[in-house]
Amino acid sequence: LAAISPTANVTRERIPALRGTTVSYLNSGASGPPADYVVKAGREADERFSGPAYLRGVELFGMQGDVAARARAAAADLIGAAPHEVALTQNTSHGMNLAVAGLDWEAGDEVISTTAEHPGGLLPLYELRNRYGVEVKLLEPPITPEKVAEAITSKTRMVALSHVLYTTGEVVPLAEICALARERGVLTLVDGAQSVGNVPVAVRELGADLYAFTGHKWLLGPEGMGAFYVRDGVEVRSTNLGYLSLSDPATFDYEGGGDLWSGARRFEGSTVNPALAAGFAAAAGHAVRRGPGQYEEIRQKAEHFARRLDELTDIEVHSPRPAACGLVSFTVEGLGSAEATRRLFEQGFILRYVPKPQLCVRASVHLFNTVEELDALADAVSRL
Ligand SMILES: Cc1ncc(COP(=O)(O)O)c(C=O)c1O
Repeated sequence: LAAISPTANVTRERIPALRGTTVSYLNSGASGPPADYVVKAGREADERFSGPAYLRGVELFGMQGDVAARARAAAADLIGAAPHEVALTQNTSHGMNLAVAGLDWEAGDEVISTTAEHPGGLLPLYELRNRYGVEVKLLEPPITPEKVAEAITSKTRMVALSHVLYTTGEVVPLAEICALARERGVLTLVDGAQSVGNVPVAVRELGADLYAFTGHKWLLGPEGMGAFYVRDGVEVRSTNLGYLSLSDPATFDYEGGGDLWSGARRFEGSTVNPALAAGFAAAAGHAVRRGPGQYEEIRQKAEHFARRLDELTDIEVHSPRPAACGLVSFTVEGLGSAEATRRLFEQGFILRYVPKPQLCVRASVHLFNTVEELDALADAVSRL
């Protein structure tokens, strides 16, 4: 235990939702409770932008733009990209939809994904099947470069998959997959809902073409804002167009449109809520400042919890061992996972259950979770 030395300053005390409670929150993979610095940044921006900012005339829009620029810059910094490679979105699913809708699909085209995707990743692909006759090929975990290589044909146009599988926390070997897809002329689209804030993400080193994530899970940001990375030069058209997609609004004319941003901002259509942008910027900015040690701390805490479960005879852990990230999924022999989740909730432990590889209880172990509460959770699981 002594090996888990806190590197990060997101302690339980910094999570307003948990103050004054004895609840253990282990569901950040579904929705992370905002940290105090996020709530503060959002409230301050809301104060300003619901009041005095309106007295600044047209400057209001520049002020809104500055907050959005801070959000883009923080998101870019966090994933090792340049700000112009990042568009603000609503969430992960929004980015996935923008990416998938941005290509001209034809009947017979193929996309490769996995059987462990969230609906936000898979439904846009099935829509391609329904609308255009695109074939959706799904790989079974564990996801390996070999399985992807074998599935690619001359018809494959995109590999669209999660970086971290939401079911088990398996971390997909993305760099190898992106490299082999690139070699074959296939685009890569990554669902980063469970990766950003949970494991290190450096998009350029990973070689992904398109990478979608959200602020409201592992980043402990507000609900309603995420980001979408678009590698420079990737030819995906924007279906979310508006005045903010124009690099220079003065180029707009009623006959021919206008000049779109060549970078990711072509995917940003219009006005965003400054309070959200400020909260998101604070969430991403703090994650940047915590540095790489935060991911090892998360992983070590998850590993500690998984080891505690290993000691229990009736519990099976379905996540990779040693733990690869903060997600730990398990089943209780003789007890359904929905019922196990319900009973744990009644004892003050908030978790969720996930559908694969079978219905599992899933714990999302984050920085603000203490070793003591993980031990208490393991004890509660042992009594189920
Ligand atoms: C892998 C994965 N993709 C997408 C989503 C949906 O995320 P969002 O709410 O950011 O669209 C989730 C949420 O749980 C997820 O786990």
